[in-house]
Amino acid sequence: MDDIAWLGTSEGRQALAEADGLPDTEAPGTVTRMRDRYGERAAAVLTQVALRRAARVKFGAQADRWFYTRSGLEQATRPAVAAHRAATYAAAGAARVLDLGCGIGTDAWAFLDAGLDVVAVEIDPFTASVAAANLAPAVASGRARVVQGDATLLLDELWLPGVSVFADPARRTGAGRTWNPSDFTPPWDWALGLLDRAVGAGVSGVSNSDRVCRTG
Ligand SMILES: C[S@@+](CC[C@H](N)C(=O)[O-])C[C@H]1O[C@@H](n2cnc3c(N)ncnc32)[C@H](O)[C@@H]1O
Repeated sequence: MDDIAWLGTSEGRQALAEADGLPDTEAPGTVTRMRDRYGERAAAVLTQVALRRAARVKFGAQADRWFYTRSGLEQATRPAVAAHRAATYAAAGAARVLDLGCGIGTDAWAFLDAGLDVVAVEIDPFTASVAAANLAPAVASGRARVVQGDATLLLDELWLPGVSVFADPARRTGAGRTWNPSDFTPPWDWALGLLDRAVGAGVSGVSNSDRVCRTG
C-alpha cells in the first residue's frame, strides 16, 4: 500500500491527528517520536500535516479533508474560482468533463460538486495517487475516474462525444514559476487546440491567459 492510501486508513488518520497535535512538524523531537510510532510512514505523515497547515490559507476548514503535494498545493485553483468555473460548465449543459492535467484534483472536485462526472488525467504518478485519494468517494461511486498518464497521448481515447474538456496546464519548470506559454505542460498550443476541435453540437467556450475550457 502506498503512503497516500495508508494515510486514508484508520491508522493513517490516527497518525495525522497525532502529528497535527504537535506544534512543529520539523522539530527533531517530533520526527523521532513519529518515527518510533510509525516507522517509514512518519515522513509522509509529517509532510501531509505540514502541507495541510499551509493549505488552510487557501482552502480554509476543508483543507484537512485533502492530501497534497507541495507543487500541487501551489498550483491548485482556489475553491471559489473552481466553483464558479464548474457552475459555468453546468449551466452550459455539461454532464461529464475531462480534466486534462488534474493536479491534486481541486477543479475535478468542484466539477463533481456541481453535478458533473469527471475523468481526471495526471501525468505525475504520485500526484495522480493524491488526486485519486482526494476524489475517492466519487471514484467509489463511479462518478469519477483518475487516469495516470500523458493527456496529450490519452486525449483521443478519453474524449468521447458529449464530454466537455478542461485543461489547466502547469506553469512551472524545474527552475520555478514560468510566464512563458511555451514552457507550459501540457503544451499551451495543444491546450488551445482543444478549442478548435469540433465536438458535438453547441459549444460554450471560455479562454483566458492560462486556462482553456470547452463544453460540447
Ligand atoms: C496547474 S496543475 C493543475 C491544477 C488543478 N487544476 C487543481 O486545481 O488542482 C497542472 C497539472 O498538469 C500536470 N501535467 C503536466 N503535463 C501533463 C500531461 N502531458 N498530461 C497530464 N498531466 C500533465 C502537472 O503534473 C500538474 O499536476
